[in-house]
Amino acid sequence: MTSLLLLPGDGIGPEVTAQSRRILDALALPGLSVSEAPFGGASIDAHGVPLTAETEAAALASTAVLMGAVGGPKWADVAYDRRPEAGLLRLRAAMNVFANLRPARCFAALAPASTLKPEVIEGLDILFVRELVGGVYFGVPRGIETLANGERRGFNTQSYTTSEIRRVATTAFELARVRSGRVCSVEKANVMESGVLWREEVTRLRDERFPDIELSHMYADNCAMQLVKAPRQFDIILTDNLFGDLLSDLAAMSTGSLGMLPSAALGEAGRPGLYEPIHGSAPDIAGQGIANPCASVLSLAMALRYSLGAAEVADRVEAAVEAALDAGARTRDLGGALTTAGMGDAILSKLAG
Ligand code: NAD
Ligand code: IPM
Ligand code: MN
Repeated sequence: MTSLLLLPGDGIGPEVTAQSRRILDALALPGLSVSEAPFGGASIDAHGVPLTAETEAAALASTAVLMGAVGGPKWADVAYDRRPEAGLLRLRAAMNVFANLRPARCFAALAPASTLKPEVIEGLDILFVRELVGGVYFGVPRGIETLANGERRGFNTQSYTTSEIRRVATTAFELARVRSGRVCSVEKANVMESGVLWREEVTRLRDERFPDIELSHMYADNCAMQLVKAPRQFDIILTDNLFGDLLSDLAAMSTGSLGMLPSAALGEAGRPGLYEPIHGSAPDIAGQGIANPCASVLSLAMALRYSLGAAEVADRVEAAVEAALDAGARTRDLGGALTTAGMGDAILSKLAG
């Protein structure tokens, strides 16, 4: 028996997750039970907190979790440590999903949909391996204090330990062995001690355990520029929590839309993975039924592959998304006119056919 917990969340989260649910129902995987729980702002509305103890326990007890998105203006005034995004960070930490795989792949049919020139992005296939439960997102001390002179000071701490760096780098090197054998590690060792340590530990690990992997290093600012100038030079990009957040949104536009990028957050072997589109709750289009569900559906495919032991089914789902795009199916963000459900229909028809 395997179990998948759906956390639709807020804004377009429930809209896109509903399409993944339809695909799951059509797949009718034997032995898989699917359940749903409130999360983020929806959970604040129902229970006063973004992540209840029950939802956290259900996530930890499941085989995989598929999340939609959380957050939105409705919860702008809730206490900082109770906002929807804080619930997401708490869930990631509780599940200890330290390695966040964010594949930025440009489907051939979408090359013209990007704001970048087709010849720059055709065939693009980058895998970000983003550290997800450390760095400045979680470092202490953090806070806002009032100084003696009456000024206020906001502060956060960027921090990484040897083991935090080595475990996520191990994931990147292992994945490199089944891809091109190349890893580009990204930090700012020129201005940050945490970056110096990152570079040293990644290099040491490669020398000790992965001598077959070609490792390069790049400063994060240059990486942002290179991702726009010549993104196909990259295969795996290994980076920290904050740089990984920024650079994966940037690379998303090379695939046509932010609505195309799925992710898989993985922890220790055998523990549940957390799967989510990299986009947010998109308050500007929420409730209109026009969001692109592809990132959610592709996140479901990653859950099938990495947690649910159904790699062949994952291939089928990804092929159905690609076939739908090849046939011209496009939501508004991709320059088309399909609704969220219409895109779901297009994917479902290719899955069946
Ligand atoms: P966003 O990703 O929600 O939206 C950015 C832009 O991309 C918007 O114009 C939006 O309409 C568009 N977009 C995003 N997903 C789309 C899709 N599937 N189809 C079509 N268009 C899409 O980022 P934001 O506006 O900065 O953040 C909104 C809220 O979401 C904030 O509260 C933020 O904290 C939260 N957020 C949550 C997650 C998450 O739950 N994993 C991720 C990012 C942001
Ligand atoms: C993401 C989001 C989250 C992050 C927020 C909502 C906490 O932007 O998943 O990319 O910064 O990690
Ligand atoms: Mn982000």
